Amino acid sequence: MCGIFGIVAEKEQTLGPILIEAAKRLTYRGYDSVGSATISGSKIDLRKDAGKVDEVAEKYHFSEMQGSRGITQLRWATFGIPSQVNAQPHLDSDGDLVGAHNGNVVNNVELRQQFMAEGMTVRSENDGESCVHAVERYINQGFDFVTAIRKAYNDLEGDYAFVIGKIDDNRLYAIKKGSGLVVGIGEGFNCVSSDLPSILPLTREVIRLEDGEVITLWADRVELHNVKDGSLIEREPEIVQESMSAVQKEGYEHFMLKEIHEQPTVARELLHRLAGSDNEISKMMDKIKNARSVYFIGCGTSYHACLAGAIYFSQLAGRSVMPVLAPQFKPQYGNSIDERDVGVFVSQSGETKDVLNALEVGQSKGMTCFSLANVIGSTLTRKTEGWVPLVCGYEISVPATKTFTNQVISFLYLAAKLGGRDMTDFENLPDLMAETIHQTDAQMQALVPMINPWDDLYCLGFGTTYPMALEGALKFKEITYAHCEGILSTEFKHGPLSAVTAGFPVIFLAGPEDIPLIISGINEVTCRGGNAIAIGRADGRLAANATHTVTIPKSNNAFSALLGVLPMQLLSYYIAIARGFDPDFPRNLSKTLTVD
Ligand code: AGP
Repeated sequence: MCGIFGIVAEKEQTLGPILIEAAKRLTYRGYDSVGSATISGSKIDLRKDAGKVDEVAEKYHFSEMQGSRGITQLRWATFGIPSQVNAQPHLDSDGDLVGAHNGNVVNNVELRQQFMAEGMTVRSENDGESCVHAVERYINQGFDFVTAIRKAYNDLEGDYAFVIGKIDDNRLYAIKKGSGLVVGIGEGFNCVSSDLPSILPLTREVIRLEDGEVITLWADRVELHNVKDGSLIEREPEIVQESMSAVQKEGYEHFMLKEIHEQPTVARELLHRLAGSDNEISKMMDKIKNARSVYFIGCGTSYHACLAGAIYFSQLAGRSVMPVLAPQFKPQYGNSIDERDVGVFVSQSGETKDVLNALEVGQSKGMTCFSLANVIGSTLTRKTEGWVPLVCGYEISVPATKTFTNQVISFLYLAAKLGGRDMTDFENLPDLMAETIHQTDAQMQALVPMINPWDDLYCLGFGTTYPMALEGALKFKEITYAHCEGILSTEFKHGPLSAVTAGFPVIFLAGPEDIPLIISGINEVTCRGGNAIAIGRADGRLAANATHTVTIPKSNNAFSALLGVLPMQLLSYYIAIARGFDPDFPRNLSKTLTVD
């Protein structure tokens, strides 16, 4: 998703390198175009194009850009193809204003027509340009800048944040409506960005904006206004403690590999956190226990965690839960939920629009809403009654790994608590995860030559391993660009089996309690010449029947399923590398999906 950054410095200087660095730190969000603008007196220098930060910055010599104010933006295309004209920032009609946005202005098409009818110069199809013209409209009518933004807010429908500046001024202005926006307070400068990574290397003093707030930034102060009535808002800055090393690769070739290896550590931190949060958890557990119906709601990887959670809640606590893909929540349950029900909304980013839409449906019906989220201060955490922090730190790589396992562990822990189970086994889980990664890394690399030639394969699971098979397949699809379908192992014979030819790879995630059933599936594949790869704990039956076995440590059924997804993450990673793809930034994908 798009990322924005703006800075106001106390004097004219070469802002280009600062803007390039800020843009680089936003790349993890996913993007296809990049642009920077600097404002120096009555001159705006705007350079932008489709492409990667390094390429575009070098081609257009971003590093030379001068000014006292600067804006940079990474665009992930929604309105208008990735191109130079659609890249952001954008100018107003006369080239006096420059601005960029993050998010989605849903009435962009209508607005563009209005702006053209009013005689404004509309150059692109991009909705970021509409933010600039929406402000221009009111500046032209003689309103001061903050009032013009407040009026523009009424015209711009959707969820967005934008930053904008004007020639012959010494300020930048920004507004938040639905998309993230954080202000950094520095020595001799102030800055604003869609999120923290681009700010933290510059300053640790931040102000987090709420929806409906407009910020004015000078080099030495900021002023916050309520968009509705224009009143001044007082908010003290906070000091951010997170270390920037979390956003560096720490010796790993890719963030994905680093994040795979971080899983045992963040699992341990999560378990400590959960053990120390008895009060909050009991509140959530009481509501879940006494609810008429319970829903676990998420998208993509987070949905797979919901599916796993529903299985654990039934198996360990006897509580039935409906796992739902967030956009399906309204059509499937919107008419039948009410205040007797509980929803747990699951999201790494806490900003996924599909999830926030479902939350709105739930809240409008009086449902009690909790969340599991990684990003502290995200919209989801602020809008729900209580939340379980996933405590994973930043997850930079687009494919979710550590946030998935901590989502699953959270559900597993809550289910075990609700079911009054013995919790002592949880102490061993982080070590089992570390052992699994260590033990399967070479095994998965060894499988690359056998699997890599195939652009089509299956990953099967049953019971607790079913959600893990879906997640393993999603990981594979995301970063290898091959088609890998995750399905219930028993469904394979109902259709997909026809795909099996000599050497066709089918991966089985074998839970210890389901080995006889998995073995039937394995033989359906091998007797047709396919290669059956079984991932499970050491078991003579698997070894005797599968073409290859990948051994994971011995543990109980629930833990074993979670351990099984780790080699699938590694396999996906190594195949992506063998294919020459960047696993951290897969094509067409974005880390934070703030659009419908
Ligand atoms: C995960 O690898 C994917 N990038 C994607 O499916 C993701 O899980 C989905 O977009 C939901 O994101 P969220 O957890 O931030 O809500």
